Amino acid sequence: PLVPVLLCGGSGTRLWPASRAGFPKQFVPLAGGRSLLQHTLTRLEGLDTAGWVAVTNERHRFLVERQAGEVGIDRLRVLLEPMGRNTAPAIAAAALDVTRDGGDALLLVLPADHVVARPEAFREAVERGRGAAEAGTLVTFGVVPARPETGYGYIRTGDALAEHTGVRRIAEFVEKPDADTAARYVESGDFLWNAGIFLFRASRLIEELETHRPEMATRLRRAWQAGTPVAASDALRLDEEAFGAIAGESIDYAVMEETDRGAVVPLDAGWDDAGSWDALLRLQEGDGHGNVVEGDVALEDVSNSYVRSSGRLVTCVGVDDLVVVETPDAVLVSGRDRSGSLKRVVDRLRADE
Ligand code: GDD
Ligand code: MG
Repeated sequence: PLVPVLLCGGSGTRLWPASRAGFPKQFVPLAGGRSLLQHTLTRLEGLDTAGWVAVTNERHRFLVERQAGEVGIDRLRVLLEPMGRNTAPAIAAAALDVTRDGGDALLLVLPADHVVARPEAFREAVERGRGAAEAGTLVTFGVVPARPETGYGYIRTGDALAEHTGVRRIAEFVEKPDADTAARYVESGDFLWNAGIFLFRASRLIEELETHRPEMATRLRRAWQAGTPVAASDALRLDEEAFGAIAGESIDYAVMEETDRGAVVPLDAGWDDAGSWDALLRLQEGDGHGNVVEGDVALEDVSNSYVRSSGRLVTCVGVDDLVVVETPDAVLVSGRDRSGSLKRVVDRLRADE
């Protein structure tokens, strides 16, 4: 069966400094009343799937269970992380959990904060990748890049897989390149964005982790084995000590950059990752100059910028393509397509804390 895995434990690094307040964007109801998380949960309608697995932080358990219930998902297994250790351990925990009885399953890994305008095209892409994933490749979904975004992974496409129409080998995977490299990749026409959605056998992912990150694999197995079931709920709390000992890393670095078994299916479904300031600008209707503002803001000769104030008056004059975010204790001024660089800075700041 196909088991969808919902990732909803991120700390919103690319929405810093507003994400400091700890308000997880994927839970907020949008126009139409559903949250991004609920849109994700309903995106697969019509696909043949088994029950969902959600991997999230302890403190969001009730939110996830409630929001899933509201959209009619009644089979939900929840894996609770005592703290965030990024996506590699989160995904691997789901893989261990679904193989606990010695079985195997195809995992479809879905971040909870993505927008997909055409769910049907998305489901078709998933179907196209299924055979290759069954056969043991790690299937990604590739989007034609629209700009030199530094917050994404880039995939250089290789040969077509003869046995699986519409699926190509990954020749090279580069996570969050710097701005110059990203610009070069986009210009070359040889690269696709990694959509951050994955399809693979659970057993294959575990093998890859054991090969490329053996220490992480061992600690995670311990955290899962020593995990405690939560009463009156189909949830497992991962062991805090063992899980905390894992060095946090995303699946993109830990596995996708390392493996030689990657494959990519093209995705043309109106996909977007709503987890950055740039996305909030892109996904909202701007004023006549393409600006989106929130709070007490005054602009003159400004275009294509996102400017947000939480209290103080923010004024910008004569600038373009900027992100400006004011909060009580931190201010961000950034180029609008630099969310990857922002993530690097924030990771550094958090490490110093
Ligand atoms: N459970 C859990 N635990 N979920 C997590 C954790 C964690 O520690 N960290 C992140 N997540 C969730 C986030 O909430 C999000 O839904 C998803 O995992 C991906 O994490 P992001 O932090 O948003 O990753 P990214 O956007 O910087 O990069 C990934 O997605 C890009 C496309 O959106 C990568 O896969 C890139 O290669 C890709 O281009
Ligand atoms: Mg993201």
